[in-house]
Amino acid sequence: MFPDLTQHPDYLSAQSLAWCNQLAANTGKYVYPWNGICEGIAAEDILTEKLSSIVRGKVLDVGCGHGEYADRWATFAEEVVGYDMTEGFILTANQNRQPNVRYVVGRTQDGLPFPDNYFDIAYTKKGPTSWYREGNRIVRPGGDVLLFHPGDGNGEGGEMGFYFPGLFGPPTVGTPILDKIQERLETSGFTDIQLWMLKETVWIPTPQDILAMVCFGQSDRFSEFARATCYSGIAAQFEKHASEKGIKTTGFYYMIQAKAS
Ligand SMILES: C[S@@+](CC[C@H](N)C(=O)[O-])C[C@H]1O[C@@H](n2cnc3c(N)ncnc32)[C@H](O)[C@@H]1O
Repeated sequence: MFPDLTQHPDYLSAQSLAWCNQLAANTGKYVYPWNGICEGIAAEDILTEKLSSIVRGKVLDVGCGHGEYADRWATFAEEVVGYDMTEGFILTANQNRQPNVRYVVGRTQDGLPFPDNYFDIAYTKKGPTSWYREGNRIVRPGGDVLLFHPGDGNGEGGEMGFYFPGLFGPPTVGTPILDKIQERLETSGFTDIQLWMLKETVWIPTPQDILAMVCFGQSDRFSEFARATCYSGIAAQFEKHASEKGIKTTGFYYMIQAKAS
C-alpha cells in the first residue's frame, strides 16, 4: 500500500547522529511535530513526579536534547548538567539556560567526562542506554539513578504498523529493548533495581499528524515525497480506523529506579 520510504535517498534512521543533527539544524529542538492527545496519565508525567521527589544536589540529565526538561530542575538543585551528542540541541539549550545549569556535548560511548562520585542523581528521559556502568561511577554511592526509555511494542512495531502497513514497521519479535536494558543493568553495578512497565493511550487526531510522524526529522525533499506518495493512503486508512477522537495508539515505556554503589 505504501512505498518503502527507507529507500528514499534522503532517508535517515531515526535517532542516529545524522538524524539528530538534521532535526537540530531544522528546528533546534527535540519536539514532536504532531499532535497527540493523551488519555489519562502520560508516562512522562510519572517520571516527572518520581524525579520531583528525589531531585537534590548535583543532577545529570543524559541525552538532554535541547535542555528544556533539564532546566526545570534548576530551582531544586545545586547544579544541573545536561549531556548530549547533538551540538545543535546544546546550542539551543545554552541560549536558555539558568545560571546553575551547564551543558556538555559528547557521546556516552566515549564515557561520561565527569569525576567519580560527582553527582547525587543521574537520569535519562528517552536517552541512550549505553552509559549505565559509567553512571555508577559518576553518581556517589547511595545516589539515585532514574532511567526512562521507550519500550517494546511502540508505534513503529505496534498498532501503527497494523493501521499503516509498510509505513511503520511490523511488530517486533520478543522484547529486544528490555533485553538490552537488562543486559546493561546486570553489568552496571547499580543496586536496589526496580523496573516498571508503563503504558499510555494517545489519540492521534488527524491524517496530517500521521504524516508528520513519518516525516519527523527527515529532509524537506523526503517530506514532499512522502506527502505526494503516501498522504492519500494515510487518509484512507485513517478514515477506516479512526473514531471521532482519531487513531488510538498505545505508548510503552520502561522506567527503572536504582541506587549507585
Ligand atoms: C529521544 S531524544 C530525547 C531528548 C530529551 N531527553 C527529551 O526527552 O525530549 C534522545 C536524545 O539523546 C541524545 N543521544 C542519543 N544517543 C546518545 C549518546 N550515545 N550519547 C549522548 N547523547 C545521545 C540525542 O542527541 C537526543 O537529544
